[in-house]
Amino acid sequence: MPVMAIVTLDARGLTKRFGARTAVEEVSFTARQGEVVGLLGPNGAGKTTTIRLLTTVLSPTSGEFSVDGIPSDQPARIRQRVGVLPESAGYPAHQTGTEFLRYHARLFGLPRRDATTVAERLLTEVGLAERAGSRISTYSRGMRQRLGIARALVNDPAVVFLDEPTLGLDPAGQRQVLGIVRDAAQRRGATVILSTHTLPEVEEICSSVLILDRGRILTFGTVSEVTRAVAVSRSGQLRVPIDSVGRAAAALARVAGLTVEVTDERPDVLRITLTGRVESDRGDAGMNEALRAVLAADVPVLSFDVEGARLSDAFLAMTEESQR
Ligand SMILES: Nc1ncnc2c1ncn2[C@@H]1O[C@H](COP(=O)(O)OP(=O)(O)OP(=O)(O)O)[C@@H](O)[C@H]1O
Ligand SMILES: [Mg+2]
Repeated sequence: MPVMAIVTLDARGLTKRFGARTAVEEVSFTARQGEVVGLLGPNGAGKTTTIRLLTTVLSPTSGEFSVDGIPSDQPARIRQRVGVLPESAGYPAHQTGTEFLRYHARLFGLPRRDATTVAERLLTEVGLAERAGSRISTYSRGMRQRLGIARALVNDPAVVFLDEPTLGLDPAGQRQVLGIVRDAAQRRGATVILSTHTLPEVEEICSSVLILDRGRILTFGTVSEVTRAVAVSRSGQLRVPIDSVGRAAAALARVAGLTVEVTDERPDVLRITLTGRVESDRGDAGMNEALRAVLAADVPVLSFDVEGARLSDAFLAMTEESQR
C-alpha cells in the first residue's frame, strides 16, 4: 500500500434505525486506496446494513459519508464509483456469464464494444473464461460467487463491497476468491470492504479490521493492533527432560497468573497458559517470567514454543465481553 494512499471511504457517525431497532449506530471509519478492510461481527451486528448504507441502497437515519470524495447527498454519483457483491445475490439463470457482465457494463454506460472487452477481461480475471458462454444456471456456487465479484468490478470501482464472498465455498474456491480480492486491491488499487466470519482469511488478506457488535464499532485498526488490544489468553509449550518435569512444574507453580498442565501423550511437555486479563505486551513478560523461573530452578530447557495471539481469540474476547 502506498504510504500516502488517498482516502476513498470516509464514514462519519453513520446511524440506521428500523423503527425502534437500531441496526447501525454512530459508525465512523476511513479506508484508503489499495486497502482490504475486514468487516467482522456476530450475526445481526450490522455488517450488511453498513454495506447497504455505503452503497446507497439504504439511506442513513443520521450521519454522512463520502466515497472517492463524493458526499453521501449525491447517491447517483456514488453508485458509479462502488461495486458490490450483495449478501444474497440473484443471477438470471438463462443468461451466459458474458451476457450478464456485458449487460451490467452497458448499464454503467459503456459502449457495446467496450462492454464486451470488459466482460471478457473480467471473466478471465476471475477464472471463468472457459465457461463464459455457458448459462449461469449451469454454474456451481463458487463459479456464481466469482461471477458476482466480476460484476462488482465491472465499473472499475473505487470501493468494492463484498458481503461474505467465501460463504459456502470449498477450500480451493475460498483460495481462488481471496486471490481475486487481493488482485482487486493490489493491481486495481481499489479499496475492498470484505465482510466475513472466517477469521484466518482476515488475518491473511486484510490490512485492517473493523469489528461491529450490535450496530456499534467495538474496534478498528490493523490486525496486529486489534489482536494486541484485548485480553488474549496465550499459551506455550515447554519441553524438559522427563525426570525434570516435576521440578519445572514446582517452579512454575510459584509464578502468578498462569496454569500448567502435563498430558499423558506428552509427559515431557508442560503446557503453560496465561490466565486472566493479560495485555499482549504483559503476556510476553508473563512467558518470560515463566521461563526465568524454570531456568532459576536449574531445569534444562529442551524447547520452548509460545503460541501467538490470534485474531479469533481477540474477536471472541471482544464480542463476548460486550454481551455481558
Ligand atoms: N430491513 C430491515 N428491517 C428491520 N430490521 C432490519 C432490516 N435489515 C436489518 N435489520 C436488523 O438490523 C440488524 C443488523 O442486521 P444486518 O443484516 O446488518 O446484520 P449482519 O451483521 O449482516 O448479520 P449476518 O452476519 O447475520 O449477515 C439486525 O438486528 C436485523 O434484524
Ligand atoms: Mg449480513
